[in-house]
Amino acid sequence: MPKVLLTREYPPIAKDLLTKEGFEVNSWPEHRPMTPEELVANSKKADAILCTITDKITPEFLSQCSHLKVIAQFGVGYDNINVPEATKYGIAVGNTPGVLTDATADTAFALLLSVARKTLYVHKQILAGQWRSFEPNKRLGIELKGKTLGILGLGRIGTELARRCKGAYSMNILYHNRSKNSEAEKELGAKLVSFDDLLRQSDIISAHCALTTETRGIFNKEAFAKMKNTAIFINTARGPVHNEEDLYEALVSNKIWGAGLDVTNPEPMNADNPLLSMENVAVLPHIGSATIEARTGMARLAAENIIGFFKNGIVPNIVNPEYKTF
Ligand code: DGY
Repeated sequence: MPKVLLTREYPPIAKDLLTKEGFEVNSWPEHRPMTPEELVANSKKADAILCTITDKITPEFLSQCSHLKVIAQFGVGYDNINVPEATKYGIAVGNTPGVLTDATADTAFALLLSVARKTLYVHKQILAGQWRSFEPNKRLGIELKGKTLGILGLGRIGTELARRCKGAYSMNILYHNRSKNSEAEKELGAKLVSFDDLLRQSDIISAHCALTTETRGIFNKEAFAKMKNTAIFINTARGPVHNEEDLYEALVSNKIWGAGLDVTNPEPMNADNPLLSMENVAVLPHIGSATIEARTGMARLAAENIIGFFKNGIVPNIVNPEYKTF
């Protein structure tokens, strides 16, 4: 039977499903990602790998592991995998869309509230013994009712955030996409605008795009300069979508009001990063999909991508259908 390498400790359903189908499963036992060398050495002994964002599937890796049949990503984003290169070797790449939509939209919504009401910052003040009295004119946040939400990349997760913001705060929804999202326009009254208009008109800007050459660093000095000085920037997509130094500068110089980040660049963020002690900033350790439901769903879909390939030649959530033609 085919051998599968699990590169991290995933929810048990992944191993259970694979074992039940008769696959030989080997799991990396340590609570840290493998080094590139360890990843190559262990993948050489496998026919398929179930990997995640911390595994860098580079051209170097692929040239040494071109025997792999399937790379099943535990995650919807797969920017850690060089897909064109995998395709050249005829390796199928699968991902896990859909199951983490609500969890990630909740994280973006939670960040928005945390920034608007400075909740993470004031919690740190309590821990530091700085809650001395009720403060009539301190720790003031801003309200969200009737504000304009701007979404870069209005797909599944962006739509769920828009639903939450519309339902809770009657927000107006703007979005910038390569293509029109007619369903969101109909359901939420969302309006497709240029990236410039998104920056200039939104009170909250939330990134929900994939990390690509076009989106890398798209939130930079120029972008922050165009945003309202009362704007809140939220990123639950990928850290490199924003330029961290430019974001910090925009915050200290009051070019924008606040920021909520579930993703940083690099990850993990250093504990002494100045963003962590700013009043209007909330940072989370990439927990967008970290619910029992979402992570179990991701483990199930990733395992099903491997099982589908070996049992009937179909990867249910294929990223590179063209792999067959190489
Ligand atoms: C995803 O699914 O892309 C999450 O960010 C975890 O990598």
